[in-house]
Amino acid sequence: MTRATSDIGHLIDTAEGWVDRSIYWDPDIYALELERIFARSWLFLAHESQVARPGDFVTTWMGQDRVIVVRGRDGTVGAYLNSCPHRGNVVCHAEAGKARGFVCNYHGWSFGLDGRLAGMHEGEAFERTPGFDRRKLGLTPVAKIDTYKGLVFATFDPDAPCLADYFGDFTYYLDVMLDNDEGGTEFLPGCIRSILPCNWKVAAENFAGDALHAGWTHDSGAQAMLGRGVGKVSYENSYQANVNGHCWEFNLDLLGNAATFGDRSVLSWLRTREPEMAQRLGPTRARMVGSMASVNVFPNFSFLPGQNTFRVWHPRGPQETELQTWVLVNRNAPGHIKDAYRKGVMMTFSPSGVFEMDDGDNWQYATRANDGVVTRRQRLYYGLGFGTEIDHPELPGNVHKGQVNDANQRAFLGRWAQLMDARSWSEVAS
Ligand code: FES
Ligand SMILES: [Fe+2]
Repeated sequence: MTRATSDIGHLIDTAEGWVDRSIYWDPDIYALELERIFARSWLFLAHESQVARPGDFVTTWMGQDRVIVVRGRDGTVGAYLNSCPHRGNVVCHAEAGKARGFVCNYHGWSFGLDGRLAGMHEGEAFERTPGFDRRKLGLTPVAKIDTYKGLVFATFDPDAPCLADYFGDFTYYLDVMLDNDEGGTEFLPGCIRSILPCNWKVAAENFAGDALHAGWTHDSGAQAMLGRGVGKVSYENSYQANVNGHCWEFNLDLLGNAATFGDRSVLSWLRTREPEMAQRLGPTRARMVGSMASVNVFPNFSFLPGQNTFRVWHPRGPQETELQTWVLVNRNAPGHIKDAYRKGVMMTFSPSGVFEMDDGDNWQYATRANDGVVTRRQRLYYGLGFGTEIDHPELPGNVHKGQVNDANQRAFLGRWAQLMDARSWSEVAS
């Protein structure tokens, strides 16, 4: 990798491993992120199981834009801005539900499941108005929407590459969680929402590749859950891999993350499933399903294999992030296993979970320390793991030996800088 020299790129020195702190506090950089990262990238919206039948909907955000995700009468999933084209009011305030359409509280415009303007209070007055054309007054749809093995993604940018190209070879890794069983996956009902006083990238980077903190930050939490600490993270058989800024750090211990639930039923279930998973995914990926690992799908969709917490870090300003968390399970898993995952996520990665509380304080102060005008001029060191790149006979993408590494975080920020400097997708290398 070479040192970038453009406006934003010079803030990220992937060659020497330095990062300018302004990317975590500068309001102008944050405003540009909303344009060039969030209004441009494919963003995670929902699991298909949340919108299984026509009329099922969830509301969420793409950056700071509110969107409604809804399955239409024709069975396809659409996503629309959750803002009325009349005076801009939010048209759906519920987080999830089932509807025949959406009615705006302000002046009574109503919209179909396909976003079209269906009716209006005092409709005759509008119909008498010269130039009025209801076909131009529906809810604004996203530019592109697509699914990958049960997960729904969308982008606001019509020039974005297709979802398959956006992921590239990263689907090899995604299938570890999304395709280790023929029945596929689902989200358990319910979503946990919380506010974190940190920059969204601090959280995304942590999941992209911060195995380093696990054995230190989470050691006491692990002692509470496991009866012992995390210990030293293995170098042998552990890796960081990234493709197009999507990052997966992992080892091949099968059970490391799953063990932190302190519930042995999940461990024995995963052990008995290993041969079947190996047949489906090959022996390497079968060892990754419950292993000590963490993942960030660029830009802000993270999950933990084994603990099965799936989450989005929604940006709310340079110093605030709104977190949505769900629990992913295999659809065909026995009920008691699904329940063990649900309880396990609540005890580890929820606002009251032991590990989430560990992380929250660190992320808050890593962000807020930049309030100091001298502090914010200092650079941060991201040089761990230079020289660990390897060619692996099976693992695709940029692969680095050793889980304790900054390689994925450099890749995440490198992709971020590439998008921030590009005027359009045509200038972004894949
Ligand atoms: S703002 Fe929605 S009907 Fe007027
Ligand atoms: Fe953590």
